[in-house]
Amino acid sequence: MAPSPRRPDPQAIAEAVELLRSGRLVAFPTETVYGLGADAGNPQALGRVFRAKERPHTHPLIVHLAGGEQLSDWAAAVPRRAEKLAEACWPGPLTMILKRRRGVVDEVTGGQDTVALRVPDHPVALALLRTFGSGIAAPSANRFGGISPTLARHVAEELGDQVSLILDGGPCGVGLESTILDLTGDHPTLLRPGAITTTALERLLEAPILLAGGGGLPRAPGRHARHYAPRTRAVLVGEERLADSILSAGSNIGVIARRSRPASFSGRWVELPRHPEGYARQLYAVLRELDDQGLDRILIEAVPVAPAWWALRDRLQRATAVEDTLRD
Ligand code: TXA
Ligand code: MG
Repeated sequence: MAPSPRRPDPQAIAEAVELLRSGRLVAFPTETVYGLGADAGNPQALGRVFRAKERPHTHPLIVHLAGGEQLSDWAAAVPRRAEKLAEACWPGPLTMILKRRRGVVDEVTGGQDTVALRVPDHPVALALLRTFGSGIAAPSANRFGGISPTLARHVAEELGDQVSLILDGGPCGVGLESTILDLTGDHPTLLRPGAITTTALERLLEAPILLAGGGGLPRAPGRHARHYAPRTRAVLVGEERLADSILSAGSNIGVIARRSRPASFSGRWVELPRHPEGYARQLYAVLRELDDQGLDRILIEAVPVAPAWWALRDRLQRATAVEDTLRD
């Protein structure tokens, strides 16, 4: 039977650690999204993660640590830049890619010679990591390609029968997956935009951040164009065309916008905050909610072209088909 989310008291944390030690999966909150945790040193436990998510083995996992001092247990070398970022950003929504240390298992790295590492900024995640004492590999706790969970309930609904325990830490404060920065080359390279912006990273490192793939939106290996996507057809619509698109889309639609519902509209309308942080915190939960309503379409008003909205633009582009018209 699928477990109900548990209050993360010391007893639940102790049980979670026991389960991790015996190779089981434990879902836990982080400040970004809920993770599907497994002992990062146990190939069998890691195998369970890939099966539960129906995720291809070539997609490597992020190893979560209790603190920056554990970096050298996983990385072959810790460059000065990584030390600097660890000090400034951890615990926090930044994942660093470093050369892996010998002994880090292939199930974590997807067979690459690099490893992704992050210290999450959430009291429950940190309590779990400290008690466990080693790395916990954790992808977002959703099926491959779907929307990341920002509530314990999302995990229970989607992966409940695959996990032994779900720790309930309430809604995730950030709501979008971490920024991923590759530090293995000559120049730091952004693989996934997130709450920690390239501007902040450039200021901290006093060096330019390159974009993977050279310009446009970056790609982490195994990141698919369609990812973070609802099952319902979702379409990104320019601000100025929203009214027209609504008219031509029929009545059984949902709209996500940064303005209030016009009196003439009778479908499902969700108004999200005009501020990127507030918007990010709610977006995934709103997408899930609309996805469950049997709508013909979800129209999403495009968000501003500004650095603070970049991570959101990336996720929205991946969640939607970007179309000029709604003719099909
Ligand atoms: O905020 C987050 O990062 C959340 C929470 C749970 O920490 N985790 C998360 O994990 O988003 P996941 O597995 O859904 O996304 C991890 C991304 C994948 O796109 C993967 O390809 C990339 O990180 N990645 C992992 N290891 C890598 C490596 N060695 N080199 C390049 N990319 C890597
Ligand atoms: Mg994911």
